[in-house]
Amino acid sequence: MDKNRKKLALGLAVGCIATLVLLGLIGLTVVYTGAYNVAATEQHMSITRWAFDTTMHRSVRRRAEEVPRAESVTPAMLASGASQYKASCQHCHGGPGAKREKWADGMRPQPPHLAEAASDWKPGEILWIVKHGIKMTGMPAFGPTHDDETLRSIVAFVAELPAMTPERYAALGSDSGSGAGGQKGGANHHGSGGQLGSSGGQKGDSTGPAASGDHHGPGASQQPPSETPKQ
Ligand code: HEC
Repeated sequence: MDKNRKKLALGLAVGCIATLVLLGLIGLTVVYTGAYNVAATEQHMSITRWAFDTTMHRSVRRRAEEVPRAESVTPAMLASGASQYKASCQHCHGGPGAKREKWADGMRPQPPHLAEAASDWKPGEILWIVKHGIKMTGMPAFGPTHDDETLRSIVAFVAELPAMTPERYAALGSDSGSGAGGQKGGANHHGSGGQLGSSGGQKGDSTGPAASGDHHGPGASQQPPSETPKQ
């Protein structure tokens, strides 16, 4: 009886080790023979996609950073974020009324349209993604090349995308000619809100900016574009 048990245990152990070795060999064969097709024209298998998406979401949620509350978002920050977004993100992620570049359709995974996808993420999570990037996707890390203030302005802008009209999107940032382009990095972050709110924000869209102003509450340096700047 005891002998039989010993034999069984030995058999099980050998079986387990043999299975592990076999799996390792299969893995190495796939790696070395080039059997796996890395072409971006091939869709991922749904299980790969699921595993990747879940890993990515959990990983980001676990590491997300604190960002200042929405009240501290100023029009200057938004305008600066808009310029950055249009220069560095729009070609992959599009925007309200703006399509991503045709070539970005050829990416696997494809960059999501952030006007919708941004609502899945909290600002702290967006900040983490933009700062650190996402491995194996083509989503770059902007942390090594952009300071925190610039990153926060991008996040403030991205967080507003789902509620943004195409008109407001087009008016914000470098295209508005309000000098927002020169404010990269949010250097004038303090106190320049009124200037931008009244020049950039008002263009062709009287409802959008006002609605967003209400949304954020009366921030210290924020003035709704409909009001004359106090001077
Ligand atoms: C070269 C193309 C490219 C550029 C440029 C780029 N991204 Fe991405 N981005 C991606 C890809 C690809 C993903 C991953 C999609 C996935 O995992 O399904 C992604 C994911 C994201 C996500 C997570 C969205 C989600 O639901 O999966 C956010 C947020 C994001 N990017 C923001 C930005 C911002 C902000 C910028 C500019 C500062 C930017 N990206 C620039 C390609 C790009």
